Amino acid sequence: MDRIYFTTPIYYVNAQPHLGHTYTTILADTLKRYHRSRGRDAYFLTGTDEHGDKIAQAAAKDNVDPKAYADRISALFRSTWDTCGIAYDHFIRTTDDYHKATVSRILQQIYDAGDIYFGEYGGFYCYGCERFYTEKELQDGKCPDHRTEAAYIEEKNYFFRMGKYQDRLLKHLNEKPGFVTPQRYRTEVLSLLREPLEDLCISRPKSRLQWGIPLPFDGDYVTYVWFDALINYVSALEHKGGDSFDAYWPCCNHIIAKDILKPHAIFWPTMLMAAGLPLYDRLNVHGYWIMDKGKMSKSLGNVIRPLDMKERYGMDAFRYYLLREMVFGQDATFSMEAFVNRVNADLANNFGNLVSRVLAMQKRYFGGMVQPMGDGARAEDRELKEAFMAAAASVDRHMEEMAFHRALESIFEAVDKTNQYIVQTAPFTLVKEPDQKPRVGEILHHVLESVRLTGDLLAPFLPETGAAVRDLLGLPATDSLRAEWGGSFPEGHEVQPPRILFPRIEETEDDGG
Ligand code: MSP
Repeated sequence: MDRIYFTTPIYYVNAQPHLGHTYTTILADTLKRYHRSRGRDAYFLTGTDEHGDKIAQAAAKDNVDPKAYADRISALFRSTWDTCGIAYDHFIRTTDDYHKATVSRILQQIYDAGDIYFGEYGGFYCYGCERFYTEKELQDGKCPDHRTEAAYIEEKNYFFRMGKYQDRLLKHLNEKPGFVTPQRYRTEVLSLLREPLEDLCISRPKSRLQWGIPLPFDGDYVTYVWFDALINYVSALEHKGGDSFDAYWPCCNHIIAKDILKPHAIFWPTMLMAAGLPLYDRLNVHGYWIMDKGKMSKSLGNVIRPLDMKERYGMDAFRYYLLREMVFGQDATFSMEAFVNRVNADLANNFGNLVSRVLAMQKRYFGGMVQPMGDGARAEDRELKEAFMAAAASVDRHMEEMAFHRALESIFEAVDKTNQYIVQTAPFTLVKEPDQKPRVGEILHHVLESVRLTGDLLAPFLPETGAAVRDLLGLPATDSLRAEWGGSFPEGHEVQPPRILFPRIEETEDDGG
């Protein structure tokens, strides 16, 4: 059986789930559902990153110990994903014992192999980023990200011989052009690799930071947070047991945003090389959501929270906007106005109305009983079928390239085609001629089949909609796609009366929306 393994970043527990985290998590969820629906064995991992300065500081500010603090926020992430219907297979926490054991084992292994050494280091340290900066990287002595003064710290630490693996990594990137994708991020990694790769400081003295996994070979130090965090992708599979690691690791697809490209594209593969493990298959990098009125921040009151969006507009409307609006790899602007327009135009008017319309006609003309489909030989019937077969193929092509927006666009082109088919065949006029009733039955059957296939094609992107469409059509729930035309409705099959799938959103941002 074909397998595929998707991971999201494990999120820091110093912030609550917002739009950014939700987007990546929805991508992974969609991918898992999509591959499952095509008969593949897809595994999906997410979780929380709980060690390091940032968390220790956030906990101190709240006057609780770091573990209690991490427990609370981690549970919040998990329950948020549960409420949002995210179908993760495992939720990992870096404070889980099995994870800590794997981190220790890998550190010891790399240490024994001679790729970790003890040395002195002086540098400019940003507590926000939890990393050292070179003078050249700082802007006016400040961290380019946090705009806070970087502190000069001199201390003895352990270093990972990352530089030793530079050539091997370059070779891999050249031999496997799809290793980091889209292309622009691969180019960015290649350009980082034009400079000599420095060794990586992988410890923090306990005198400065206790909240971390102790180094197995020196109890006075804890592990640098990235060295701990990245290993989650492996420890989760080891924890799953059996042959999970061998089965899923070779088809591992990481999904991240561009902010954490360097740790994933440079630290992580070189760590894997040093640990004697094979590399992941593909690093998929998306851009950033930018708020239309400036950076998302608590003080501006423009933080988008997944649970608010779900409660107000429904999860599928939110998913649809995110997946349809962002071009994978590029930044996108989040605007409530664009959200409302998108959802109203595509979901409420276009698809929602189509579903209501056909179910209303089916009810009125045939008491909800589906009629024979006919031989489908007429030009308009054939064209409708072809539009759907083309849409199904094009979804597959676009999903291969993570072009979620194009996949959805293809499905909606087929919906447009269905609306045109209704106009063209005019069942509402034809029904007035008694001898045309069988033809009206055929036309509606074609439209119902369009709705069935649209719902099934949409299901990985919009799971609630996929299920609701099947329910309205009186069909059993399924998570596998039958991308064929016809044969969905047995003789005597009855569909439900119409029900509103997507209510139109009437509010605008001005009335508090
Ligand atoms: N803990 C690390 C990751 C370790 S993975 C081994 C971390 N955590 S984070 O909480 O800061 O999450 C960063 C990720 O959140 C991004 O890579 C992206 O997936 C998501 N996003 C956060 N804000 C975002 C946007 N504004 N837009 C899109 N996604 C962003 O880094």
